[in-house]
Amino acid sequence: MTTDAPSRPFRIDVHPRAGAATELVADVRRGFAERPRNLPPKYFYDARGSDLYEEITRLPEYYQARTELSILRTVASGLVERHAPAELIEIGSGSSRKTEALLDAIALERRPARYVPFDVCPEAILGAAQRLAAQYPWLSIHGVAGDFVRHLRHLPRRRGRRAVAFLGGTIGNLEPVERAALVGELARLLQPGDVLIVGTDLQGDAERIRRAYDDAAGVTAEFNLNLLRVLNRGLDADFDPTGFEHVARYDDEYGRVEMWLRATRQHSVTLGALAQTLELRSGEEIRTEISCKFTRRSVVEMYESAGLRMAEWHTDPEGRFALSVATK
Ligand code: AVJ
Repeated sequence: MTTDAPSRPFRIDVHPRAGAATELVADVRRGFAERPRNLPPKYFYDARGSDLYEEITRLPEYYQARTELSILRTVASGLVERHAPAELIEIGSGSSRKTEALLDAIALERRPARYVPFDVCPEAILGAAQRLAAQYPWLSIHGVAGDFVRHLRHLPRRRGRRAVAFLGGTIGNLEPVERAALVGELARLLQPGDVLIVGTDLQGDAERIRRAYDDAAGVTAEFNLNLLRVLNRGLDADFDPTGFEHVARYDDEYGRVEMWLRATRQHSVTLGALAQTLELRSGEEIRTEISCKFTRRSVVEMYESAGLRMAEWHTDPEGRFALSVATK
C-alpha cells in the first residue's frame, strides 16, 4: 500500500498590493495626464485577470505560452545539469504551469531545492503553491506577492546557486528604460555560477503576432476590459465596460504590440478617488499594455547593458519565441 507523501507547509509574503489605493491613484493620475493616456499593465492581474490570462495561454492564437513550454521541456534537464540550481526564483510566476518543466528536471537531481514564486497576484501564488506543494513534496516553497519594480529586495536570502526565471515574455511589457532598470536589478540578484533565464517573444509576422492579442473567442478583449472593473473597485470609479472596445495593434516602428481600450461613444466617467471626471470622445483611446518583441541582437544588448553575458539562446523551430540564459 502506498500513501501520498505529505506536502509541507509553505510561506507567502504579501507586500502591499500593487492595487493598493494610493499607488493606483498615483499611477492613474500620471497615466491619464499623459498623451496618449495609458495605464500600467500590472493592474490587469486581480484574481479574475490572472484567471483570464490563464485562459489566454490556451487560445489557438496565443502561440507564446505553448511555444515557450515546448522550448522549456527540451532544454530544462540540460540547464539543470549544467547549472545545478539550489533555488529557483520566478518573477511574474502566475500559475507556475510552465515552471513544472524546470521543477521536473530539478526533481531528477534528487537534491533539496527551494522555489520562490514572485507575482503581483497573491491568489495566483496561493493556487500555484498549493498545487506544487502536493506535486513536489520535497520542494520548499516561499512565495512573495509584490511588484517586481518595487519589491524585489524582499526576496528571501539566497540558499545556494540561483536560477532566476522571468518567463512568458513579460519583460516585453516594460518600456526600454524600465526594462534596463529591471534587468539591472535582476543582475544584482546573481552571483557567478547563477543563471538568469528569460523568455522573449520574437519579432516576426506582424499579423500573426497581433492576432495573439485579438483572439476570435474574445478572451483577450475580456482581459483588457477587466481592467475597468479593477479601476472601478480601486478608484471608486464608474467605468461602463460596454462603452469601450478592445483594440490590438502591431507597431512596426517599435516592434511591439499595443493594447488599447477605445470609447465607443462620447461619455464621462467619474473617478471618485481622484475627485475628477474623465471626459471621453467617441473613438478616444487609452493604452493599457505594450508587449515588445525582440531579436537575438536586442536580447544580447539587454544583457550586456546590465553587465551580463548571454550564455545560451534557444528558440522553437519557427523562431517565434526564445528562451535565453545569461550569467554574470
Ligand atoms: C503575461 C505579459 C506575457 O504580453 O503577452 C496576453 C500578457 N496581454 N494577452 C503578453 C497578455 C494580452 C502577456 N504577458
